[in-house]
Amino acid sequence: MRLENKIALISGAASGFGKAMAELFAKEGAKLVLVDIDGENLTKVKNKIGDRAIKFIANVGNLADSEAMIKEAIRQFGRLDILINNAGVTHNNMPLEKVSEEDFERVYQTNMKSIFYSSKFAVPIMKGQGGGIILSTASSAGLRPRPGLSWYNASKAWVINITKTMAVELAKDNIRVNCLCPVAGETPLLTQFMGEDSEIMREKFKSTIPMGRFSQPRDIANAALFLCSKEAEFITGVALEVDGGRCV
Ligand SMILES: NC(=O)c1ccc[n+]([C@@H]2O[C@H](COP(=O)([O-])OP(=O)(O)OC[C@H]3O[C@@H](n4cnc5c(N)ncnc54)[C@H](O)[C@@H]3O)[C@@H](O)[C@H]2O)c1
Repeated sequence: MRLENKIALISGAASGFGKAMAELFAKEGAKLVLVDIDGENLTKVKNKIGDRAIKFIANVGNLADSEAMIKEAIRQFGRLDILINNAGVTHNNMPLEKVSEEDFERVYQTNMKSIFYSSKFAVPIMKGQGGGIILSTASSAGLRPRPGLSWYNASKAWVINITKTMAVELAKDNIRVNCLCPVAGETPLLTQFMGEDSEIMREKFKSTIPMGRFSQPRDIANAALFLCSKEAEFITGVALEVDGGRCV
């Protein structure tokens, strides 16, 4: 019970990494606000977890929705110990000049503006309650970019920089800020990263990962649990690679 009675909000909780984090955090005793734009899958995750979780359908790239999700956490539980900015999207793998402005906007709204918005509303609460933890899902793409994913890669480099920036600014307020840098993982996003889901493409991606496999949602959930636990109480401003050696 490493998170006993901690209140955690997880965005992108309906699928992939966020879903695995939600399930693990619930097992470790946290009470959860599960946020996603996909209400159908969010309900499935909430029902599996049961009474420890509430669900909240929101677009994290929207200011009013972000305010509402933080307010809902406070209304239901009275505080917010852990904020996980995990929801994210990519454009398809393609030459950088072919990415549409619409896709660019969607990536930047979801991956970057979401953190601006959630911070605007969560940071004052954490300051007021004497501390908190913010964890974002960046990517190994922000450290070691692959071709064809230009604007996505840059959005994740931004997540790494704002993590470090927030960590130094908020350290005096007892707010720890870290991010995870997963390598390509077995979630619905993988096909978009690869451009096509074929054996050849899978082998090509895996060949760049020294440990020879994709990341699994459990790898990312385990790393998130560590960074949000008491054991990590002196760790802030870290971009933790969870990547089987890809960034070495
Ligand atoms: N899968 C990978 O290979 C990989 C690698 C590195 C980093 N990441 C990052 O991990 C995070 C989670 O991705 P995943 O692989 O679990 O993908 P996923 O598609 O399985 O899950 C992402 C979830 O975010 C939700 N979402 C998307 N836009 C949203 C919005 N505007 N508001 C609220 N919810 C929204 C989706 O509905 C989905 O449930 C993302 O930030 C992604 O960029 C993924």
